[in-house]
Amino acid sequence: MKTSIVTGGGHGIGKAIVEKLLHEGCQTIALDINSAHLQALKQELPQVETLQCNVGVAAEVNDAIKFIEKKYGKIDYLVNNAGISVFEPIETLSLEMWNEILSVNLSSIFYAVKYGKHLFTDNSAIVNIASTRALMSEANGEAYGASKGGIVALTHALAVSLSPKTRVNSISPGWIEINNYDTLSTADHAQHLTGKVGKANDIAETAWFLLSEKSAFISGQNIVVDGGMTRKMIYV
Ligand SMILES: NC(=O)c1ccc[n+]([C@@H]2O[C@H](COP(=O)([O-])OP(=O)(O)OC[C@H]3O[C@@H](n4cnc5c(N)ncnc54)[C@H](O)[C@@H]3O)[C@@H](O)[C@H]2O)c1
Repeated sequence: MKTSIVTGGGHGIGKAIVEKLLHEGCQTIALDINSAHLQALKQELPQVETLQCNVGVAAEVNDAIKFIEKKYGKIDYLVNNAGISVFEPIETLSLEMWNEILSVNLSSIFYAVKYGKHLFTDNSAIVNIASTRALMSEANGEAYGASKGGIVALTHALAVSLSPKTRVNSISPGWIEINNYDTLSTADHAQHLTGKVGKANDIAETAWFLLSEKSAFISGQNIVVDGGMTRKMIYV
């Protein structure tokens, strides 16, 4: 049975990835900082292993990996999904918040690989969740954009360093509506070439493709999953 880890697995895109991995028969461990999210997940999907962990803190990631090593002895799939976003003008964005965003979104991936590297099996795979904000911006997105751009670069660096044992790819989601899909407007949907805003499952399906043998010849890539939004030219 494949041992798989999903960070930020308690809610949203991470939860959809956990569901997909369980559906595909993987032993799945969800790491999340939020105990309420983990409790609800465990209630809904009793077969999932839940571990409370702040992935932005190296020592907590190390502890989680040690637990996984003791109980499961290996890692086949790792999905680095946990992320936070703050959009704040440069003048008021505190240094603490800048560092927090980079720790949770970017450094967390380094921690998981640093402490878990020896556990990766042959034919293992890592998927990192970046964002289309790695590629384009609105105002006040410096911290989030930098963290996501860093993920895309870290992904190809890791793909080289961990080859040929472990394939490493990233997904850059566009607008994935988690909480209020039914209240979206016609204009919201129309911004997308596909005519609709994305759902968490759109990312979960891509993540599974990139983890599974179906993508055995793909490594070091960033796959944009955004309904074509970043391909739409806009003249104002
Ligand atoms: N939803 C979107 O439109 C969208 C678009 C592009 C990229 N993304 C990225 O996808 C990922 C998931 O986003 P989402 O919309 O599902 O978010 P979400 O807020 O619905 O879920 C994120 C989960 O991560 C957990 N988490 C947050 N900080 C953590 C930490 N320090 N340690 C461990 N767990 C932590 C939260 O508790 C939560 O369960 C993020 O990396 C986000 O940047 C989302």
